[in-house]
Amino acid sequence: MLDLQTLTAGARVTVFGSGNQRGVLFDPVKDIPSLAGKVILITGGAGDLGKQVAIELARHNPARIYIADLPRADDGDSVVRAITRDALSDSDQHAPPTPIRYLAVDLSSFESIKRAAAAFCAAEDRLDIAVLNAGIMRVRPGTTAEGYEVAFGINYLGHALLTRLLLPKLLHTAALPRGADVRVVAVSSEGHAMAPRGGILFDKLKGPCEDITYYQRYGQSKVAIIGFARELAARCPQIKTVAVHPGRIITGMAHGLRKESLLFRVTAPLSPLFCVPAAIGVRNHLWAATGPNVETGKYYEPVGVPDKETAIARDPTLSRRLWEWTEKEFENAIEV
Ligand SMILES: NC(=O)c1ccc[n+]([C@@H]2O[C@H](COP(=O)([O-])OP(=O)(O)OC[C@H]3O[C@@H](n4cnc5c(N)ncnc54)[C@H](OP(=O)(O)O)[C@@H]3O)[C@@H](O)[C@H]2O)c1
Repeated sequence: MLDLQTLTAGARVTVFGSGNQRGVLFDPVKDIPSLAGKVILITGGAGDLGKQVAIELARHNPARIYIADLPRADDGDSVVRAITRDALSDSDQHAPPTPIRYLAVDLSSFESIKRAAAAFCAAEDRLDIAVLNAGIMRVRPGTTAEGYEVAFGINYLGHALLTRLLLPKLLHTAALPRGADVRVVAVSSEGHAMAPRGGILFDKLKGPCEDITYYQRYGQSKVAIIGFARELAARCPQIKTVAVHPGRIITGMAHGLRKESLLFRVTAPLSPLFCVPAAIGVRNHLWAATGPNVETGKYYEPVGVPDKETAIARDPTLSRRLWEWTEKEFENAIEV
């Protein structure tokens, strides 16, 4: 049963948060099917949206959930405990808790990604759902370990490499007799519309891209995520791959904004008018990961509404070029 707070928050995200007034009603409690036997990996799973995705999925009894996020001093123990506690709090207390594992990965480093992928592949025979959710937004210009613009490097390229290394597991799972519903959910943003003209500045990706704004750098990385989802869907039709925008939610990302933007600090008290709680903000993630009628290759802007991406994000020439560029970068940098 939807309560009043959920309904008003839902209205806000559809009216203000995404600019669309249609959308699929998706109640995680009722609408997520049993996930028994499934293995799930969520990047940025220690962040606000990622954690909430893990909590909601854990309530439907998957075999295991991997929280793939930056290395932490306690090896992720406190994150794992918090997710386990919150997943149990609103469900059948007698059900055994879903095992949650922490997988340390720094998406700004190819070496770290390779180590994390190897550890996952050694531990698991299957991967049913990968939620590529980690991200950064307002950060100072900088580069990743391999010298790529940092937002592009983490939000897109790191995820592309991780997926590439996990692809054999995903394909293996899709080929299992009862493993056909394998999904990759790549978290983009309505902010992809802020990308620079042309969508992706290929000539500048190796370097900090200081001559464009932070929101253009963020937009560029999120255009790339949409193109990546479409290309992976076309190349691996056994796997359902989609890109999603979650809506506007005050999360860890806002801390960066608060530090850097006077406008954000001044308008912060009004944010409840434009933002919704994480529990609402994760519905597109959850619908895309488990819901019915999800069409591979599409971009969904909440919840379940396809085709709202900009013309440049939909451009097949751009996504094909991105795929080919990415393959080349991986060829030069690592043996995959
Ligand atoms: N919040 C919104 O309104 C909104 C709107 C549109 C799209 N999104 C997208 O939603 C996704 C989740 O963001 P969120 O709002 O939940 O923000 P968040 O709370 O900041 O979560 C992001 C997570 O990514 C992790 N991360 C950052 N850099 C990483 C790296 N190098 N390697 C591995 N993990 C890294 C962060 O770790 P640390 O916390 O330790 O840095 C954090 O756990 C992002 O892709 C974002 O672009 C959010």
